[in-house]
Amino acid sequence: MSKESVAAVVLAAGRGTRMKSALPKVLHPLAGRPMISHLLATVTELKAWPLVVVVAPGMDDVADSVAPVPVAVQERPLGTADAVKAARRILEKFTGDVLILFGDTPLVTVETMERLRAARRRSDDPAVVVLGMRPAGANEYGRLIGDDDGRLEAIVEWRDATAEQREVPLCNSGVMLVDGAMLFGLLDKVRNDNAKGEYYLTDIVEIARKEGRACAWVEGSETELLGINSRVELAAAEAVVQQQLRRRAMEGGVTMPMPESVHLSYDTQFGQDIVVGPFTVFGREVAVGDGVEIMGFCHFEQCRIEQGAVVGPFARLRPEAVIGEKAKIGNFVEVKKAVIESGAKVPHLTYIGDARVGAGANVGAGTITCNYDGFGKHFTDIGAGAFIGSNTSLVAPVKIGDGAVVGAGSTISEEVPADALVVERAKANVIPGWAAGRRTRKAAAPGASSKGKTSSNS
Ligand code: UD1
Ligand code: CA
Repeated sequence: MSKESVAAVVLAAGRGTRMKSALPKVLHPLAGRPMISHLLATVTELKAWPLVVVVAPGMDDVADSVAPVPVAVQERPLGTADAVKAARRILEKFTGDVLILFGDTPLVTVETMERLRAARRRSDDPAVVVLGMRPAGANEYGRLIGDDDGRLEAIVEWRDATAEQREVPLCNSGVMLVDGAMLFGLLDKVRNDNAKGEYYLTDIVEIARKEGRACAWVEGSETELLGINSRVELAAAEAVVQQQLRRRAMEGGVTMPMPESVHLSYDTQFGQDIVVGPFTVFGREVAVGDGVEIMGFCHFEQCRIEQGAVVGPFARLRPEAVIGEKAKIGNFVEVKKAVIESGAKVPHLTYIGDARVGAGANVGAGTITCNYDGFGKHFTDIGAGAFIGSNTSLVAPVKIGDGAVVGAGSTISEEVPADALVVERAKANVIPGWAAGRRTRKAAAPGASSKGKTSSNS
């Protein structure tokens, strides 16, 4: 195999105890997908193959989540060198570059991975290239012992470092690229006579140096190398991802007057000339067409908003909502599993679920599709150009024909033909003068002057 090919091992066998979670750490989501999926997506961009994720016994949920990427099981948590050895069966015959990554350090970019690969081709032919960083604050990362020309002599773990070594600003991010022809030979020489009694992957640098091979380091940014151990660090990583996603959206033609308040998903799709108002949350699988205006305070999930539609403020679009071209969804409207066809208007205080609202129809304030009967969900079909008066209950299954008019306040449970008028409303009983008479009677009643005084509750 040529030196140009690259394989990758992602270590994820750690329990992640500091997350205080039943969910394995690497499955905690960033922008709607597991952190490890972000890393695997980047590794895929690099075209790294074979690719293997190292897990602990019983981590079937991680295996399911990363499939079809294969997993290797590290039987006991004996340290990072031992974890890489778990991938031996898959990588033993591979002689290209092996990239070693940590599942809890998911924001490494493909550019940085490429820089590691470039450094492997330095004239001194380094066997190991380590990704370093210079964190701003105090920390307990391993220290890189090397020179300013990128030559590396050793990595010392914090716990094993002398006071002088701890002063070194250059830290180990954990990411490294190793000559695949040497990897397992180096790993087999790693011993566990150190502060933690673990097999440290970091020891392969010193071992390679002793065998007369050069080692090197390159530097990455602290944000990209953020390691996630707790939910506080998870939130910090989420902030980084959100900022990247918003930047990408804005660069692609989306206006965000208050970007820091908009929450995106890794797969949010935008056209151009879209405005996204403040405090809008995009769950997974949302697509927004050209020219759409989203006023603030909306919540979307698994839905599509087509060209020129106007949505919000305070609209909620749930799975399988489709808002057609130039349709309007106003405040306090919830749409679920329903198609609002082009030009239709649902401007206020409405629930549309399991339904079709035909092109150009108008749905009045307070309209509810009564889609659930306690057992199953039923469909409401509103024809093109129909007019649904305010405060109407549409008891599904029910069909309103094209161009029909439903009087305000009606409860409709049977089909209304096209162009018909339907009003379902009890006849009003008007009694002239009754209210004035009541006021007179109340004023004359005994105790009427002790206004507001009621019997006390004991
Ligand atoms: C490691 C590095 C340290 C570096 C730091 C950066 C070593 C010995 N030390 O320390 O130099 O500054 O990362 O974050 O490599 N894992 C396994 N099996 C094991 C042990 C760990 O799969 O037996 C996995 C963990 O799930 C995790 C990664 O390896 O994804 C790192 O392990 P961790 O124990 O967190 O290493 P650190 O002590 O942080
Ligand atoms: Ca760690």
